[in-house]
Amino acid sequence: MREEDKISSNSTGGNDEHEEHDFDGIRELNNPAPNWIVLVFIATFGFSLFYAITYFGYPGNGNDQTSEYNRKSAAFDKKKKQQEEASTGGVVMGEQEKLASGAQLFAQKGCIACHGLNGEGNQIGPNLTDNYWLNGCSEESLTHMIAEGKPEKGMTPFKTMLTGEEIKNVAIFITKKLVGSNPANPKAPQGVECKP
Ligand code: HEC
Repeated sequence: MREEDKISSNSTGGNDEHEEHDFDGIRELNNPAPNWIVLVFIATFGFSLFYAITYFGYPGNGNDQTSEYNRKSAAFDKKKKQQEEASTGGVVMGEQEKLASGAQLFAQKGCIACHGLNGEGNQIGPNLTDNYWLNGCSEESLTHMIAEGKPEKGMTPFKTMLTGEEIKNVAIFITKKLVGSNPANPKAPQGVECKP
């Protein structure tokens, strides 16, 4: 038996015929991979093509990362809005609406009697347009002052007359619109300057 015939009569189960080419007497055995490996290879290759086209293939098919991110954020925003609506009885106010509501409450609920038509202060109440505060300048300090008042100093408690939401809106109106508005006849600053 020739040497190469011994090699080719091994037991790999493949087709043991020689390939045609021959370099310096070195010849290749024709030993194809088993069918199942070829099938797995074709399947994974096919899947990778499908995957690449679906997820990176062409933008705008809605499957790329950016679209997925946008879709999920939109769904989240929608859910958040629904939850907010549920917790506020269906009314969700934007920043402008809060300020408008605050302005209206400030005019209608009697704040102007003691703080002036434009929040400039008068004989009774302090100026709310400068950035000096007797009771602190944080949103909590303001909402607390408006809700609980300070009867011994003449500030009415409003918690029975305004809802928590309304109190917040007035507080926002004061800090965003009144502070820094420089009205006529301002009352002299009282208290401590608010440092950001
Ligand atoms: C009857 C008079 C009166 C009314 C009405 C009134 N205030 Fe006052 N308010 C005062 C007085 C007096 C003070 C100062 C309290 C003090 O000396 O700490 C004050 C203080 C405040 C402060 C804190 C100011 C600071 O420098 O710490 C805020 C905020 C405020 N009032 C908001 C309002 C709002 C909003 C309304 C209407 C919803 C209102 N007030 C209605 C008399 C009044």
